[in-house]
Amino acid sequence: MHSNNSAPPWPACSCVPAGSRPILISMKLAIRYHSGTGNSARAAALIGGQFSALAWSVDVREIRRDLPDACDGVLDADLLLLAFPALGFSPSATMVAWLRGIPRKTGGEAAIICCTGGDYAKGSSIGGWGGDAPYLAARLLRKRGWVVTALGEASYPVNWIQAMNPPEQSYAREIIKRGDAEASAFAAGLAGGSSANPRESLARRVSGAVSVLFRLAGRRFFSTLFVADATCTSCGWCARSCPAGAITMKKGLPRWSLRCDSCNRCVNLCPTGSIQSSSVLIGLHLVAAIILAIAAFAVPVPESFPGYARAIARILLIALSPVLQFSLVAPLLGALAVVNPFRRVFSRSFMKDFRRYRAPGFRP
Ligand SMILES: Cc1cc2nc3c(=O)[nH]c(=O)nc-3n(C[C@H](O)[C@H](O)[C@H](O)COP(=O)(O)O)c2cc1C
Ligand code: SF4
Ligand code: SF4
Repeated sequence: MHSNNSAPPWPACSCVPAGSRPILISMKLAIRYHSGTGNSARAAALIGGQFSALAWSVDVREIRRDLPDACDGVLDADLLLLAFPALGFSPSATMVAWLRGIPRKTGGEAAIICCTGGDYAKGSSIGGWGGDAPYLAARLLRKRGWVVTALGEASYPVNWIQAMNPPEQSYAREIIKRGDAEASAFAAGLAGGSSANPRESLARRVSGAVSVLFRLAGRRFFSTLFVADATCTSCGWCARSCPAGAITMKKGLPRWSLRCDSCNRCVNLCPTGSIQSSSVLIGLHLVAAIILAIAAFAVPVPESFPGYARAIARILLIALSPVLQFSLVAPLLGALAVVNPFRRVFSRSFMKDFRRYRAPGFRP
């Protein structure tokens, strides 16, 4: 957790020791969280529990594209807490969109806990790193007048199954203990009135560029790789549960749209473990990207154009290749992947035998 000892933003009160938060009747904490596999929901519940024990009234709500009421109650709260996972050094696109529309509250107090992806090696847990994620959320809150007084990270098991095998159960338990301890210490500091005005390091700032790319293109690209293999029962749970509303069922099979946040909920929590990141789609997308990039450089630009116009035309051609990749190649390959003779081939995946991760007790 990042903290310093600067003065908290609430008025000094003679009835409480210096550095403590004054305890008023009916203090309200609004917790708003976004969670893929339950780590952020767990941290939110744990922090909420600690504040409840201090006689705060706590209102916890999930932020989802299809649940518009997450903004309700935030203006009445004495403290707003946001909990969310780091996804490519960024909050999820759903969280960013929500923060851009959060009601303005000049001087309203807010705190942020970002859940990161920890792992386990050589007998101890290794913490994750949220990069720009919590800082971007803080900047967005400040734009709407809020004052961010505490900002922290809690490392829970990594759930990015499209990139790596989540830790095995006994290791996951150890990492969860670490995450719980970090979230609990964060809550204790927040309740005790320790104010944090964290400074952004250069590394965090630099990771902001990656986070922009991830929100713009990365998360969409990863969604184009999802397929449901032959074990899919067409239950539709993934479509109902997706917090971004990115999955629709078509002819009994889930189809992913570019609204995907890449939270990895569907792929980790599908009851039959049927969702895969297709190795065949990765290969074909790579080939298509190379062809489009070569074409962008090879297409002739008329010699009669002045120099600056030729440069602009070339930049436009290069910019066109990712647009074509998402608007043409991805839907074509996606349609092919669900047609029967090809479906089995497209279901081949490097992550077929990977463990699936879900925070204990998480039932979205
Ligand atoms: C697409 C994706 C990107 C991720 N990027 C990061 C990251 O930048 N830093 C990190 O520490 N963990 C990263 N993780 C891991 C998650 O942030 C971590 O597992 C988190 O605890 C998940 O919380 P949740 O269960 O509330 O979704 C990423 C996970 C996914 C699925
Ligand atoms: S992919 Fe999984 S959750 Fe989605 S419909 Fe098939 S079995 Fe159900
Ligand atoms: S499609 Fe899957 S990974 Fe994407 S936002 Fe929905 S649940 Fe998360």
